[in-house]
Amino acid sequence: MGFECVKFEKEDAVAKVIINRPDKLNALSIKTVIELHEVFSSIKKDDEVRVVVFSGAGGKAFAAGADIGELLVQDMIGGKNFSLRGHELCNLIENLGKPVVAVIDGFALGGGCELAMAATIRIATESAKMGQPEINLGTIAGYGGTQRLSRLLPRGVAMELLLTGRIIDAGEALRLGLVNKVVKRDELQKEVDDFVKLLLSKPPFATKACMEAVNHGVEVSFEEGCRIETNLFAMTCGTQDMKEGMKAFLEKRKASFTGK
Ligand code: COA
Repeated sequence: MGFECVKFEKEDAVAKVIINRPDKLNALSIKTVIELHEVFSSIKKDDEVRVVVFSGAGGKAFAAGADIGELLVQDMIGGKNFSLRGHELCNLIENLGKPVVAVIDGFALGGGCELAMAATIRIATESAKMGQPEINLGTIAGYGGTQRLSRLLPRGVAMELLLTGRIIDAGEALRLGLVNKVVKRDELQKEVDDFVKLLLSKPPFATKACMEAVNHGVEVSFEEGCRIETNLFAMTCGTQDMKEGMKAFLEKRKASFTGK
């Protein structure tokens, strides 16, 4: 696959997706969003890939938001399509069926913050700056930010960030729970590699089931969420990996999962 705005690499079970417009702080042009959708669609179908590392090129930004030059010329219909395209991408990432680790080194603003929130886990460096500054441009978050921010953070905090456009640093993002971990830049690669290794050591079906239970469960009633959980739990009981995990515990040895 040849892309202009996105780099894609695959190493065994790990796919690396890099937003690649460093001179524009990886601003999400329409082409970038379309290319990201293509890349993530192919990853979703690729059974070899078990974990995705999602980052931005250049060391200054994950992504500094939707491309403002392209936004400026949108009318109502264009704006709707702009937003829908972003939603499709974020929903694809959130429901990929394999963990996506967003690596936030620098700015993750607007659409960048929204993409990061669609990822499964967020690891930031100390230089991370996050927020939804759209209000300062006369608009609102359009890639799911009003919805994901208010589900990830307490509603009042999300409301404050959305209404003021305030940009928060890595420490505050960690304190609020917007990122899972903050690491020093020179330790970033090792931290990400270690975390990916940890995810890869887990049984793939249970990983997928767990993500599905959480992602679908939070959108429905508690009762319905429990029903979803029960069905997925039952399905794990039909896997060899579940038998292996339980046997390994009883035999006091490390489990060796095969993905079956
Ligand atoms: N859309 C289009 N271009 C963007 C962009 C965006 N969201 N964010 C940054 N860029 C471009 C700048 O226009 C500049 O391009 P140029 O060199 O051709 O002039 C380049 O990226 C570098 O950005 P610059 O503003 O010079 O860097 P900075 O370090 O001074 O400031 C930010 C960094 C992130 C504070 C600033 O770029 C910014 O506020 N960006 C917009 C953030 C935003 O509102 N996002 C939500 C969009 S809906």
